[in-house]
Amino acid sequence: MNFMEKARPIGVFDSGIGGLTVVKRVAAALPNESIIYFGDTARVPYGPKSNNTVIEYGLEAASFLIDKKVKAIVVACNTVSSVAIPEIRKHFNVPVIEMIEPGVNAAIRASASKRIGVIGTLATINNAAYSKSILNKNPNAFVIEKACPLFVPLVEEGWIDHKVTELIAQEYLAALIEKEIDTLILGCTHYPVLTNVIKKIVGDKVTLVDSGVAAADTVRSELNRMGMETNSNGMGMIEFYVSDLPTTFSKVAQIFLEKEIREVIRVDLEVIQRLKEKIVG
Ligand code: DGL
Repeated sequence: MNFMEKARPIGVFDSGIGGLTVVKRVAAALPNESIIYFGDTARVPYGPKSNNTVIEYGLEAASFLIDKKVKAIVVACNTVSSVAIPEIRKHFNVPVIEMIEPGVNAAIRASASKRIGVIGTLATINNAAYSKSILNKNPNAFVIEKACPLFVPLVEEGWIDHKVTELIAQEYLAALIEKEIDTLILGCTHYPVLTNVIKKIVGDKVTLVDSGVAAADTVRSELNRMGMETNSNGMGMIEFYVSDLPTTFSKVAQIFLEKEIREVIRVDLEVIQRLKEKIVG
């Protein structure tokens, strides 16, 4: 890979705003790399949608990023990661880093008892993406999964340390605590924002695994392995694209990124759909 190619940005996409928790981790792990982020805010949430729809949306987002000449794609959305990775890898000739495998590896490393809990959206849990991968790597592990669909709107509403969120978390997490897990995978972009509430409920003895942290590590090691790291010593730039109102995105972004975003560009879904037709068919 030549100097110019190495200077290309890393593409990151998500169903909406939650992927910014992953951007935060990738930017911290690779501060010199530039990032192009696409959030499909017009069609979020993906969690309750069918696999075919999620695959189609994933291919569209990846096409948009490829058109922006990214050198690698990070599928920051756990829902897309749980159903669309084979399709995305089939059509795009750049490294594709997803959330499931890095999260699973980190959880297996962290868990002494191999009793692992997984929380995610309905699609992620219904597809059993995490549990299949854990059991594939360690058939003796015990895995309990739970969909927590209300966490996404609660976080987007900014109800982070709210008593309602705590009550709902208690309800969702009761069955996992009962099964004496020692490790819990936060298998959704939004859940790291609720780390304090979740910790309070599951207690100190349960290790929380943030798939975004694990995926950022994988991005770094993949770029390194393939000789694709930028040669630049300057801070990387981050560009943000969304499919709906940029102002709403900017307002909520701070919850996830923990810093202000100045410019957000809106892209028409029709443009993205045409790119997908051109690149994927
Ligand atoms: N980004 C999604 C995920 O990580 C959560 C939001 C949604 O349902 O689209 O699964």
